[in-house]
Amino acid sequence: MAQAKAEDVYRENCASCHGAEMDGGSGGALNEGIWKYGASDAEIAASISAGIPDAGMPAFEKALPAESIRALVVYIREKENAAQKSSAPKPKMLPGEPVRTEHASYIVESVVASGLETPWALAFLPDGRKLVTEKPGRLRVLDENWKLQPEAVADTPPVVVSSQGGLLDVAHAPDFEKSGWIYLSYSAPAPGDAKSSMTKISRGRIANNKWINEETIFEADPKHYTKSSVHFGSRIVFDRGHVFFSIGDRGEKDKAQDIGLPNGKIYRLLPDGKIPADNPFADRTDALAAVWSYGHRNPQGLVVDPRDHEIYETEHGPRGGDEFNRIRKGANYGWPVASFGMNYNGTPLTALTEKEGFEPPLHHWTPSIATCGLAFYNGDKFPEWKNDFFAGGLQGTVHRLRMRDGKVIEDEVVFEGMGRVRDVRCGPDGFIYVVLNNPDRIVRLVPAGAESGGKK
Ligand code: HEC
Repeated sequence: MAQAKAEDVYRENCASCHGAEMDGGSGGALNEGIWKYGASDAEIAASISAGIPDAGMPAFEKALPAESIRALVVYIREKENAAQKSSAPKPKMLPGEPVRTEHASYIVESVVASGLETPWALAFLPDGRKLVTEKPGRLRVLDENWKLQPEAVADTPPVVVSSQGGLLDVAHAPDFEKSGWIYLSYSAPAPGDAKSSMTKISRGRIANNKWINEETIFEADPKHYTKSSVHFGSRIVFDRGHVFFSIGDRGEKDKAQDIGLPNGKIYRLLPDGKIPADNPFADRTDALAAVWSYGHRNPQGLVVDPRDHEIYETEHGPRGGDEFNRIRKGANYGWPVASFGMNYNGTPLTALTEKEGFEPPLHHWTPSIATCGLAFYNGDKFPEWKNDFFAGGLQGTVHRLRMRDGKVIEDEVVFEGMGRVRDVRCGPDGFIYVVLNNPDRIVRLVPAGAESGGKK
């Protein structure tokens, strides 16, 4: 049976009492952020399914399947968010003007204003140089003063440039000063088929602006390469002798649940690509031994909390249900069986937001922020933000998340409206760096009243 879109279900069953725009009628507004019968997703779903007979709100549990009620909650959240956004004052984001947030004020400084095309990721080398990937397939070097070398690094691996594919993340090995290894993730072409691709991880060194000594760290079996141009995942992080990286579901959601397939996983390997003996599925014949966790949709944020070595991840949900997760060995994060989102066209995806045996997100964004880039702040320039997480979104925001006792207790938009946020990094200088597309540039957040003076 074709499932109805949330918009249509709402129009036919709810609009007569709650208004076409959810701004109310006999049934009260649903977009004001004020909830008489409970504000959580579960409570709103309960209001809809059981109704509120005394107040005149009919029960819909017989008329609508559970997944349709879930999709209605997503739709209500979208309308609520849109109404709150249009009434809330926009953070002032003019370059040079202080931006005030809950705990700290900052100035936006431009560090790279031109010369980059669709920058995707930023890495700080210990010698002061920076590396930037450009999605169309170029690796760029900037000197310690952020001066961009005019020529891209030669001979980097070929990439399939598609809607979401290209040259993606870049990271240097923890022992870079000794080893010189730089790791890249990208949409590699299939052998003999330049139109099919899959996320691949390679490492190499840079000498005389050339990519040399290339080694493959991870590549999928050629049969898993696909013409799909979405959900490559791709972040790379290191922790205590291991490299972790993510691969998205490549648009084939059910594969995320199969530990024998490369889609929708976070991986853990030794820095040379070998399998660590204590990987969760190392002994299973039905699994890829490199898999560390599974049930992911499109993880494009990955960071280590250096205090306890826990790994945190952000991933894109569909329409709603972007997630912030703590990544545990061998855990299943539920996609697509459980999700807070619905399909892009408004049809329901699943009634389940959580399920026994699945690791629930620490936090989710519904509507989606299109999560991309995740940083942990352990710098010294913003003491007020010490140990907070900064999650970027392609919709143009950076969210500051504060964790206490394993729970997210604050989610604040601290940056907005300067372009699509691809990457967020805490620089070794303690400033927060934001890699933007549309327009393509890199900016940094500097404490207000303490401008760095080193503008470029
Ligand atoms: C016949 C009119 C009517 C229809 C149809 C109706 N509602 Fe309601 N709804 C109400 C009334 C009345 C209330 C209680 C308002 C109050 O007490 O302030 C209510 C309350 C609610 C609440 C709880 C609000 C709160 O403040 O906690 C939600 C959520 C809700 N409705 C959603 C829906 C959805 C979704 C639909 C369609 C599937 C729907 N309603 C259809 C009349 C209606």
